[in-house]
Amino acid sequence: MKQTNTTSLLEDDKKHVWHPYSSMHSDTPVFAVQAANGVHLTLEDGRQLIDGMSSWWCAIHGYNVPELNQAIKQQLDSMAHVMFGGLTHAPAVKLCKKLVEITPEKLESVFLCDSGSVSVEVAMKMAIQYWQAKDNINHENTSNPQANHSPNNPSNNHRAVTKKKFISLRNGYHGDTLGAMSVCDPVTGMHTLFTDILAKNYFIPSPTCAFGEPCQAKDLLPLKTVLKQHHESIAALILEPVVQGAGGLKFYSADYLKQAKILCKEYNVLLIADEIATGFGRSGKLFACEHASISPDIMCLGKSLTGGYMTLAATLCTKEISNTISNNPPHVFMHGPTFMGNALACSVALESIRLLQASPWQENINNIEKWLINGLASCKNLDTVNEVRVLAAIGVVELKQAVDMPIIQQAFVDAGVWIRPFGKLIYLMPPYTIQEPELTLLCNTIFHVLNS
Ligand SMILES: Cc1ncc(COP(=O)(O)O)c(C=O)c1O
Repeated sequence: MKQTNTTSLLEDDKKHVWHPYSSMHSDTPVFAVQAANGVHLTLEDGRQLIDGMSSWWCAIHGYNVPELNQAIKQQLDSMAHVMFGGLTHAPAVKLCKKLVEITPEKLESVFLCDSGSVSVEVAMKMAIQYWQAKDNINHENTSNPQANHSPNNPSNNHRAVTKKKFISLRNGYHGDTLGAMSVCDPVTGMHTLFTDILAKNYFIPSPTCAFGEPCQAKDLLPLKTVLKQHHESIAALILEPVVQGAGGLKFYSADYLKQAKILCKEYNVLLIADEIATGFGRSGKLFACEHASISPDIMCLGKSLTGGYMTLAATLCTKEISNTISNNPPHVFMHGPTFMGNALACSVALESIRLLQASPWQENINNIEKWLINGLASCKNLDTVNEVRVLAAIGVVELKQAVDMPIIQQAFVDAGVWIRPFGKLIYLMPPYTIQEPELTLLCNTIFHVLNS
């Protein structure tokens, strides 16, 4: 009976449901999940898989977490959602206050939004609107005092924006919406199809100085060169601090980040830190910017913000940015999603942060790092493997050639694990609650599947 239900579910799925980055005619198998608990996924057919993905890096506490369940249930009894235009509520205010408290200093204004990609759009719009407002101030100060400064004067409203371009790193990934795609690596960022319609931005090589090592002047040269030549048209440098995620899972020196921040300041360009993947402990610090002791001008958070329960993201900025945008025409920040500040999502996010802070998360991540280093070491001996790298709760086996997805995906599930490779990368980003036996099994399975 169970088997029949699963079969018809999968048949309907194949007929009607489009999955991420996939064809409607894909022959890569899709598996129906019936429940998730702790670090296990239970499939509709009863099989249990150990989860190595944290559902695309979000479920940091694992699944079916009593405290997170309770936070949502409790919030549901008072209200699920109300519009955020003209209204506010305790879960959103408390969450924003908490985010200001735990993120690097000077990030004091919080804009809540729907997803990581949207928070990148918001960050880019904030940067552009900031410079637009600054342009207006400069123009007011230098223009003829007798000029017509009325907001009804069209020449005031249509002044061209000068600082509207972005610099980003090769191998960077910032999301799938059009603005975010324009700062993703044009090749590994999966967006080559749209190159012709995306805004043209500046790309510099990804840092070559390794995590834990200092950078030399040559490492910063590409950034310095672009800033020197084009700073007048550049609104911001956007990067994923220390860990480049979906664009290649590469780790780089915190020193690069530190120097990049200094250069941005020198050339009057904002720094946007996309901490959507790294935020909330994944890189070993609560936020990856802490590795370099820097505070960006704008920070994007998402993914594990709600412990993987609901979609929610936040874009934080300095008071200098929020005041400049708010004090100058048009005096508003032009963004406002329907589900902004969703009360259920804010409640579960608050509880997830409380749970994280109450846990020995740093010790847990140190253990995960140790287990990953030991567990993945044998993969280095395989001919098909190019490199094995580990940082905190991220373990990567980079192959010489891209995997055959239908085959490897089935092999992992048959072996009782949930690991979803992409391209040449097989990686583990487990929930922080995982224990040594489960993580060792995940690592050993990667070795056996690659070696079979
Ligand atoms: C660094 C980074 N930025 C942005 C995004 C996009 O987030 P979302 O998928 O929630 O839109 C991701 C997603 O993987 C990411 O890793």
